[in-house]
Formats: sequence, C-alpha cells, structure tokens
Amino acid sequence: MSFEKHDMEFLGGRRLRRPRMADWSRRMVAETVLTPADLIWPIFVIEGHNERQPIKTMPGVERLSINLAVEAAKAARAAGIPALALFPNTDPSKRSEDGIEATNRDNLVCRALSAIKDAVPDIGLVADVALDPYTSHGHDGVMAGEEILNDETVSILVKQALVQAQSGADVIAPSDMMDGRIGAIRGALDDAGFEKTILLSYAAKYASAFYGPFRDAVGSGARLKGTKLSYQMDPANSEDAIREVEQDLAEGADWIMVKPGMPYLDICRMLKDRFDVPVFAYQVSGEYAMIAHAAQAGIVDREAAMVESLMAFKRAGCSGILTYFALDMARKING
Ligand code: PBG
Repeated sequence: MSFEKHDMEFLGGRRLRRPRMADWSRRMVAETVLTPADLIWPIFVIEGHNERQPIKTMPGVERLSINLAVEAAKAARAAGIPALALFPNTDPSKRSEDGIEATNRDNLVCRALSAIKDAVPDIGLVADVALDPYTSHGHDGVMAGEEILNDETVSILVKQALVQAQSGADVIAPSDMMDGRIGAIRGALDDAGFEKTILLSYAAKYASAFYGPFRDAVGSGARLKGTKLSYQMDPANSEDAIREVEQDLAEGADWIMVKPGMPYLDICRMLKDRFDVPVFAYQVSGEYAMIAHAAQAGIVDREAAMVESLMAFKRAGCSGILTYFALDMARKING
C-alpha cells in the first residue's frame, strides 16, 4: 500500500525535510556558522630567504623562511584570520639534550615573531611553549635516563615563554604537558610586565599517533626515542581532561585547548559544557594529512571534507580551531 497524504496525520503533520529543500531556508536555520574569525593558522618556519619547502606528509603545507612567513601573515590578515601559530624547524646543530636554544631571544621563532609583529601588527601571534623543536631526543622536556624531568623542564619553559613574549607573541600556548607550568609562566610573565599576554593552555593534550606529520615538519620525529605517554594524556581517559583543565584554570590559563581534534570532539563538548572559558581545538597534522591524502587519491572531496570537519568543531562548542586548512577555509568563506 502506498503512502497517502492522510498518513501524515500519524506524524503530526511534521515534515522535517521542508526546511532542507532550498538553500535559502537551509541557511536560515543553520545552527552553526563558521567564519574566518574562528580560525588560527599554524605556520612552520625555517632559516633562509625566499625559502619554501613542501612537507611531503602534508600535501599543500610548506615550511617558510621568515620573509615568506610575513607574506603568509599578510594573506591571512587579508582573509580575516585573526591569529597565526608559529612552529620552528630548528637547525640540528642548535638542538641539544636540554633544548636550551628555546630560551635564545634571537632564535628562529623569536625572529619570526618580531618580523611578523612589525609587518602585520594587528594579527594575533600564538607561540608554542615546549622543548621538542630544540631537543636532540625530540621530547618536550629535559631527560635523566629515560625520565622526562618535570620541574627542571618548567624552569626552562618559563624562560622560553619570556623570550617569546618579548619578541611579540600575544598568546603563549604551552603544549608540553608538564605539571605546574601554567602558574610558573603566568607568574614570570606578570613579573616581567607581560600581564596582558594571553595564556592558551594545551590542557587536554593526548599522546596521539596523529602528530606524526608535525614531527616530520619540525624535524623532531626521526629523533624521538620512546613515546610521550608519561606526560601527554591517555586516549582512554576523559576525567583526566577535567582535572587538567581545573588545574590549568586555577593556575591562570585564559583559554584551553583540546588536541587532537576530530577523535576528541566528545572532550571538546564536555569541557565546553563544564567550564565557562573559551575552548579551542587543534585539528592536528595527521588529521589534515588524512584528508589531504585522501583527496589527492580521489577518495574524498577536499573542500567538502575540510568544511565538514571544521564545522564539526563549532558544533562541538569550540570558540576556535587551529587548522592547516585555515587560509583555504577563510578564502572559501569569503567567496
Ligand atoms: C609540541 C607540539 C606537537 C604538536 C604541537 N605542538 C607535537 C607533539 O606533542 O609531539 C602537534 C601538532 C600537529 O600534529 O599538528 N609539543
């Protein structure tokens, strides 16, 4: 028997497809919008001039010398992207056991911060605090034998944060997962007159396989001995994320971040519902790489997958997303 009009009575007359029929009505009832202001663009910097190096594991992403990173910042600003996050690929000769190059006021990332701040003063600059781009072993902290030392690492991270703030960083983003680093960095920034510098804590950072291409991009992957499980979080846990966020907020974090993104949307939503602070997510290198490689192989549509994946973060309650798609996405929104 065929479906008759009067059968709709059983559905109370509701036809949920009605508002889906036309583009205008879909747009009117969309619950979530994505704007360029939701995006933070991570950029990899290298030494040299007019130097650009494609990153094989991340099709479409390049390492840029400082002068080209300045051009990228101008393009980002023109597209309405509010902030960049900078990551250095440090020369192997400057990597050491204790990663002390991180505290050099004249290191690559500090020079990049200053150059971009001078050329594009109204774009926000996020600086990552962790030692892995600077250590010979690829870990985020200093080691004694197999162990990553917490408190010794924090005292280096504090100096790293200070030189970044002095170089023009607006946002200090500790991604190292050592205990007590937020409070120590906040105190040191305030003492040095940087009370307006924002602290974005990578509070819920998981020990993830999806960081692989990033480690390739900053040159730490091949060096890395062992895993980061003794400091980054176990993917099995969500209560641990609550404890991390409570602790970081108590120590003075302004904003918090969940990382990786797509496999942890439940964590984004949970933290957003639980804490009254902006929650950011990092769609990390491996997530980008999966979409970019699948698109290259003709398996998914790059643009559609980009839009859908980024919209999902907004739906999950995020205030912003660090994503390697930032410029493409902003340009698409702008039309
Ligand atoms: C450094 C750091 C990492 C990422 C951002 N900051 C790598 C790691 O923790 O091993 C990963 C970002 C990405 O994969 O895109 N601590």
